[in-house]
Parts: sequence; C-alpha cells; structure tokens
Amino acid sequence: MGRLSSNVRRIACFACGAAHDPTVLNTLCTACGLPLEVELDLPRAPLSAVVSDESSLWRYAAVLPVPRSEAVSLTEGWTPLLQVGDRVWIKDESRNPTGSFKARGMTMAVSAARLLGARRLVAPSAGNAAGALAAYGARAGIPVRVAMPQDTPRPFVEECRNYGAEVVLVEGTISDAGRWLAEHRDEDDFDVSTLKEPFRVEGKKTMGYELFEQFGGILPNVVIYPTGGGTGLVGMWKAWNEMETMGWIDGRRPRLVSVQAEGCAPVVAAFESGSETTVPWKDPHTAAYGLRVPGPIGGFLCLRAIRETGGTAVAVPEDALWEAAHRLSASSGIDVCPEGGAAWAAFERLRDSGWIGPDDRVVVFNTGTGLKYR
Ligand SMILES: Cc1ncc(COP(=O)(O)O)c(C=O)c1O
Repeated sequence: MGRLSSNVRRIACFACGAAHDPTVLNTLCTACGLPLEVELDLPRAPLSAVVSDESSLWRYAAVLPVPRSEAVSLTEGWTPLLQVGDRVWIKDESRNPTGSFKARGMTMAVSAARLLGARRLVAPSAGNAAGALAAYGARAGIPVRVAMPQDTPRPFVEECRNYGAEVVLVEGTISDAGRWLAEHRDEDDFDVSTLKEPFRVEGKKTMGYELFEQFGGILPNVVIYPTGGGTGLVGMWKAWNEMETMGWIDGRRPRLVSVQAEGCAPVVAAFESGSETTVPWKDPHTAAYGLRVPGPIGGFLCLRAIRETGGTAVAVPEDALWEAAHRLSASSGIDVCPEGGAAWAAFERLRDSGWIGPDDRVVVFNTGTGLKYR
C-alpha cells in the first residue's frame, strides 16, 4: 500500500484540536464528533516554485496530501474563469469530469481512501457528489454505494448506475439518505460524506489556489458560492490561509458570500442571527438539490469562513434562482446549474444594494452542469 504525502503533518479536529492517526481511515473526531482537518507542512516558497504545468488540480500536488503518483484522477480542476461583465467572472465548474466541482473532492478522497485501504465507499448525496464518487470509485476499482433522495432527477441516478455503483433511493432529503446508510452500514463501508472525512476539502481547496493563479497572483475582492454542506467555502478559506502561511498573500481575503435557497437556508439564518452554529432547517425544499442540506455538519465552519473574510450570506427565492440560471446561460453560453443560478441572483442583488462596489472584482461560481436537472 502507498502512503500519503510526506507534507502531512497531522490530522486534527477543526473544533477541539484533538490529533488523529494519519495512517488510518478517519471519519469524524473521536473526541467531539466534529470534522477533521489535514494540517500540512507548507513550503516557504513562491507559487512558481510550488505549481507544476499539469492542466488539472494536481498542478498543486506540492500542497496536497496525496502524492501525484498515487492520484485516482480523471483530469479534474483547472477550470476556466470566464469574464461575463465589467469586473465579474464565472468560475465554470461544469467543465469537470461528471460535470461538477464534486470531482475535485472525490479525486482526493478516493485517492486517500485507496491508499489507506478502504474496501467500499459510501455516501449520501443530492446528486452531483454521487455521480463523482461513482466515477472515481470505478477509476480506483473500489465498489461504491450511494443513497439519494427519491426525487433526485433521473440523469444523476442513471449516471451512477452506469459507473457500476449501487444506488439506493430514500424518501426525504440527503439527511434521510445519510441515516439510511448509517442504519444499513456494512463493516467494509467507508463514509465519504461531505466533511465526514478530511480529504474532500483538500480537493476543494484547489479552487482557492486556481483563482489566485488565474488572476495573475492576486485574489478577487468577492467570491460568491452556493452552499449546501459547505466544503466549497471551507476549502477556499483553508487555501487562502495556507497561501498566507507560504507568504503569497497578506491577511486580506476575498469576502466570501454563502448563497442558499429560501426554502433551505440554515447558514443564512445562523449568519443573520449572529449564531456560531446552524440549526437544522425544518421542511427543506428547493429543486436546486445541492442546496437542500438542512443540517450541514460543517455549518460552524461556513460561518467562521464568512465572518473571518468580512463576507455575507444570502437566501434566494426559488423562482429567482431558476430565472437567473436561465438568464446567465442565455447571455453567456455557460451551462449554468440552478445552484449557479442562485449565486448569480445573489450577485445581482448585492451589486444593486451597493454591498458590491464598482471597484470590486467578483467571482461567481457555477458549481455544475444544468443539464442533469432536466
Ligand atoms: C451543483 C452544486 N452546487 C453546490 C453544492 C453545494 O456544495 P457544498 O455541499 O460543498 O456546499 C452542491 C452539492 O451537492 C452541488 O451539487
């Protein structure tokens, strides 16, 4: 069996700091039950000495916990940054394998799980994570079981089956799907749910690195991100902290905007009430399925990331997010998913209110393809 990168210093709890053995498969903190973080020994070297010329997120292998030689890869990341207006860009994650940013987390999680000896990979999903896990499991030769809500659009379900995964459809939301997997747990199962293992965030953080490189060594002023479980936000926040440690940037950060649907907005509600933790959302509903996460385990981390960067949180009405997705697709040629539509609607609202100023450079994330929702 191979090994994680030698730059892995330790694996510790994001919340209580308890250290965990990095040579075994870890899920949540054994002391307090909250998510774990991979802490890395980072070089004190400029970007040019760290990055390779590979056209995938593995160009940042020097700051990733899995060696390039051990990567389970389908050539993910290094997605286009497309300018769509004055000082506004779309980071187009629909261009990843399986059509969403979930590929970034899964290349890392599946690579690490294979190194550490996982025998079967399981996860509940709103759709995109399941498709990505099924593909990377197939690539790694590790069996996959995914559980999704019954009302998940068929293309997501068929995609997983096509990659040879076992698909279970469960009444309710992603939380119910997670409960089903826990109740039917097999001793071979390793749970790669959002933030329940520490490596998906390591893949997602490459979005923060890519923005820096694609803007020529600076960061934008505002980054707008649709939030479900929150790994996108948390990953970029981690990337920027690492970049400061390496001396690439000072203490300033892009203001992170967390966008949710009005029908399921636990992070927005907690942000507005001044709370440090989220409260499970009752009766969650939105057809932007990636945002239908009523009780994100990393909610406290999203709130930290938003507040530490001087950001904000916005809830978008259901019809506005679909309308915005269509408008952005029709005006730009980008294949915009409803979650990306929510981010675009939030951008328009924040620009109109003056929260985004005329000099701000803004990145709006289109997190996946819109095609699978039809
Ligand atoms: C297209 C899309 N956007 C955004 C999200 C939310 O991502 P996260 O759970 O990392 O907050 C998801 C999650 O399923 C998604 O599929």
